[in-house]
Amino acid sequence: MCGIVGYIGSKPAKDIIITGLKRLEYRGYDSAGLAILNGEPLIYKCKGKVHDLEEMVNAGNAEGTIGIGHTRWATHGEPNETNAHPQVSYRDNFIVVHNGIIENYGRIKRHLEGRGVTFASQTDTEVLANLIEHLYLEGDLTAEQAITMALSRVEGTFGIVIICRNEDDKLFAARRGSPLVIGVGNNENFIASDATPIAEHTQRVIYLNDDDLAIIQRDQMSLKNTSNLWVEPDVQEIDFEIGEIDKEGYEHFMLKEIHEQPRAIHDTFRGRIMPDRSAIRLGGLHNVMSELTNADRILIVACGTSWHAGLLAEYIFEEYARIPVEVEYASEFRYRNPIVRKGDIILAISQSGETADTLAAVRLARERGATVLGICNVVGSSIPRETSAGVYTHAGPEIGVASTKAFTTQITALAMMAFEVGYKRGVLDESCYSALINELTAIPDKMRKALQSNNLVEELAARFVNSTNALYLGRGYLFPVALEGALKLKEISYIHAEGYPAAEMKHGPIALIDENMPVVVVAPKENTYDKIISNIQEIKARKGVVIAIVTEGDDVISKIADHVLEIPETLPVYSGLLAVIPLQLLSYHVAVMRGCDVDQPRNLAKSVTVE
Ligand code: AGP
Repeated sequence: MCGIVGYIGSKPAKDIIITGLKRLEYRGYDSAGLAILNGEPLIYKCKGKVHDLEEMVNAGNAEGTIGIGHTRWATHGEPNETNAHPQVSYRDNFIVVHNGIIENYGRIKRHLEGRGVTFASQTDTEVLANLIEHLYLEGDLTAEQAITMALSRVEGTFGIVIICRNEDDKLFAARRGSPLVIGVGNNENFIASDATPIAEHTQRVIYLNDDDLAIIQRDQMSLKNTSNLWVEPDVQEIDFEIGEIDKEGYEHFMLKEIHEQPRAIHDTFRGRIMPDRSAIRLGGLHNVMSELTNADRILIVACGTSWHAGLLAEYIFEEYARIPVEVEYASEFRYRNPIVRKGDIILAISQSGETADTLAAVRLARERGATVLGICNVVGSSIPRETSAGVYTHAGPEIGVASTKAFTTQITALAMMAFEVGYKRGVLDESCYSALINELTAIPDKMRKALQSNNLVEELAARFVNSTNALYLGRGYLFPVALEGALKLKEISYIHAEGYPAAEMKHGPIALIDENMPVVVVAPKENTYDKIISNIQEIKARKGVVIAIVTEGDDVISKIADHVLEIPETLPVYSGLLAVIPLQLLSYHVAVMRGCDVDQPRNLAKSVTVE
């Protein structure tokens, strides 16, 4: 939930850290700070965003070539300067930035207070800094020994980078449950919560594992693993270019990422469909294909938009692979003592690969003997590293907090998975398999056509910018899309919106319908089309205002709905990939017209790495 950047080299650290924090601001943005070591540590902290911190730093003289920075999403202690990171220990020897939650911080704090240690902030991070300080002074330990001992006493999650004033030629870094990536340069090294701040400096990275401790100097680095052994770091290459994390002329990352979807879908199926289009081959599932084709059940765990993709996957898997599927919120699954059997496949869906509840669900399922797979977008993130196999969506970095291309590439990957498994199980015949593959290759162009409705959607958005509520309805494959459309609107425009199965309206929500309630009905041509026409008529009979997403050329709904947005015709299974486009654009334009911060909506963060 927070962003961390550290640098040690020969260049001015402040510029590298500030630029890096801006690239991580999607992870949290209620306060920010940095420390530069130049003999004495120079510390700058503020409530607000990184550009506020930048102004503060540029007004000072933060010269130095080693430093650490942090952009925060508050967990303990309100967003203010005191609680912003870095946090400094009580004798000023340790300067700490932290992403995660120290669960037993209260007990440690009371222990330290009993020994006369005082605290300035309400944060769990300051407790960790003071514990390190206490052990360092009391035990006459080295910084590495004090940090190692302190972390052995901590329960919870952390990604931390630490400066010790008395060992000012190195950075210390450690992680448990919150990601950290080291960037390997020439006589300079970088560290960050993910690879996006590193990509412009180096393509060589080291993904830290849980309970690794790294000691990073300008020209060398040592890495100690969970067994307390010094190991050779595993240097990998970043899988994206720096250009992918710039707005490239778009006003917001979200708009750029909405328009990137045709390319992202293509990149997700490219190389996974045989050249003769006769079959799908997901290499990442090769070693678990027999478990998949013989699965008793698939249990999907995810959060938010990824959960919506999972719900749509349920419809696809049961239709084309004929395997029973259940979809669970990861946060519910992990705490309800679920029944998980050896023949179960657990499928974790996560764009970031770091969502705490989803990661916990993965760990629980593994403990109970299930085969656990991941559908993730961020290469090298925790979930892919803790599952036995999986499929990466090739959406590229998704910076906007509101998930868009991640959703459509997740559906693409999940659909390909269902088709390949269904064909191998002998329940999907050759002609249907081939038709599905051919139509999938046509989706990027059909998405480009759907994106052409942008101006029409923008005009429509102006009519609803002052709405206080909205209802989204869909049936079949379009019910999860209705849920997704509602989530998009509420999370970036702050208008309350709910998604429902269209037939469910009669069981309560219809009481909400009046002339002030916009109702978005996702109604492309598919097998429940006639039913949804009745639903629209029920809404119109109660003066509801209907915005209908329809298949181009629709001449029935276009006569009864108040507003119509067309999408190209496609197979029902892919209708959600196209219908979600106008919903994404609608939420985007309403949010912009309401003056909301589209890429960094209030109270949210891109990667929910805390529970
Ligand atoms: C969706 O727009 C939100 N950003 C949020 O619901 C997100 O989908 C959820 O936090 C799950 O994130 P993940 O896919 O990285 O696990």
